[in-house]
Amino acid sequence: MSVPACPSPDKSIEWEYLWASYDASTYKLVLDQLNSNEIIMDIGAGDLRLARKMAALTRKVYALEINRSILDEGLASSAPLPGNLIPICVDPRAFDFPTGITSGVLLMRHCIHFQLYAEKLRDCGCRRLITNARWGMNVEVIVLNAARIPFEKVELGWYACWCGAVGFKPGLPENITYETEAIIHEVIDCPNCKSSKSLNLKIDAELSL
Ligand SMILES: C[S@@+](CC[C@H](N)C(=O)[O-])C[C@H]1O[C@@H](n2cnc3c(N)ncnc32)[C@H](O)[C@@H]1O
Repeated sequence: MSVPACPSPDKSIEWEYLWASYDASTYKLVLDQLNSNEIIMDIGAGDLRLARKMAALTRKVYALEINRSILDEGLASSAPLPGNLIPICVDPRAFDFPTGITSGVLLMRHCIHFQLYAEKLRDCGCRRLITNARWGMNVEVIVLNAARIPFEKVELGWYACWCGAVGFKPGLPENITYETEAIIHEVIDCPNCKSSKSLNLKIDAELSL
């Protein structure tokens, strides 16, 4: 397999650019969320192995992949391409998402453009994002138009931010209960927001987006 050189010397984008498949149980967590009426936007579709499975269960799948050689490998497979699977070799950061998408799928643990993709999906009317980009080892379903509170309003406990960062906001030990541990606060303006914004701007400037 020939893998083209990463377009940027920046380590974080080098990680994001890497191709690797996930295991069957990770794919199952995604597939279990889908229904037959869905129109899916698969961001970073790799060799289409998940996109093909999703196409078998849903109405339509757009599969965006930046790396032509990996996409070509998936297209060269002996299995015919399903009619409802639309592979597109493109940089999704610069791609206009069509309307009608019901769920975005972003299996990309090292994604550094989480917020950009979440905003693009939300702005084209999509309600859900199924992803491992925030927690890394876990697949979550994010309601894109859910209410989000400023980080400073969280007293203590787990949080997941619109910028893609996650963590535990510490507080007084006596205030930690099973209930506080079970809740994940959807937040904005977390401590990571400022630094991740400047990192993304730097990378995008480097790539002249
Ligand atoms: C970890 S792989 C996962 C592939 C696929 N989602 C799967 O689960 O089998 C991430 C993929 O995202 C692609 N990728 C990385 N950055 C991308 C970007 N900005 N736009 C589109 N694809 C990207 C990589 O080329 C790679 O194929």
